[in-house]
Amino acid sequence: MNNLSVIAGKSSENLAKRLSKKLEANFVRSEITVFPDGESKITLYGGLSKKKSIVVQSMDPPVDTNLVHILSLISKAKEVSLEVIAVIPYMGYARQDREFLPGEIVTMKVLGKLFKGVGASKIIAVDIHSVIGFKQFTIKTKNVSAIPDLARYFKKLSLKNPLVVSPDQGGKERAKEFAKEFNSDYIALEKKRDRKTGKVEIKTKNIEVAGRDLILVDDMISTGGSIIKATQFLKKQKCKRVYVACTHALLMNDAEKKIKKSGVTSIISANTIPGKTSLVDVSNTIAKAII
Ligand code: R5P
Repeated sequence: MNNLSVIAGKSSENLAKRLSKKLEANFVRSEITVFPDGESKITLYGGLSKKKSIVVQSMDPPVDTNLVHILSLISKAKEVSLEVIAVIPYMGYARQDREFLPGEIVTMKVLGKLFKGVGASKIIAVDIHSVIGFKQFTIKTKNVSAIPDLARYFKKLSLKNPLVVSPDQGGKERAKEFAKEFNSDYIALEKKRDRKTGKVEIKTKNIEVAGRDLILVDDMISTGGSIIKATQFLKKQKCKRVYVACTHALLMNDAEKKIKKSGVTSIISANTIPGKTSLVDVSNTIAKAII
């Protein structure tokens, strides 16, 4: 048996396969059967290393079901392997990293207890929404960035006087990182979200972007609300084309259609979540964090 096994959760199978090749590990596939009442049965195909196992599964929707899958895979791996690392490319619940309104439960704290409880010794995520979430964990954590990979992809496009734009101040550092790799300048808009209704507003007034191609950079797109509001604002400022670069394209319901309708030319995301827009492979970046 190889010294290392990579166990693929169902929706991260492709990424896990690439990772397994790069790490020269033994690839272990999982099959899931979901019963009519919503419970799942998980079966592993392949032998586990006695030394080290890497579980790979994102927390894309159905979030809670995938969370149970990750926990089950870690738990099973720990029965055989001395060390179990969980790669959770898209870390769900990372927006619930603090008590924003009184009474809100900090779900990241709960997750920290669960991952530790089933036997993970380390969690690796890609562009976690905020690293504050990881402060709630008592096991080792590492956040790796897909931004350089995304920026390298955009270098292949021919853009006119491009400018990198973050839709909010929270994403300023991300935009800066992208711009550095992409060799351009960057700005961050002022966004306000109503914590009760979730509605988004752009507070920035006028900016000088006329005739320029813009790249909106974000960690994730869920409903598309943030990207749509930012695009509508930027179009009013007479920019040329708007591209979107994001790590995790959840694109819930008809988000992609609505984003395109708002004037976005193209959405490019990483393969932390599989989908039509997931054109940027991050397996190399994850592999480097494991070695
Ligand atoms: C918020 O701060 C995040 O970085 C994203 O901008 C946000 O979570 C995206 O969500 P939605 O697509 O629903 O606006």
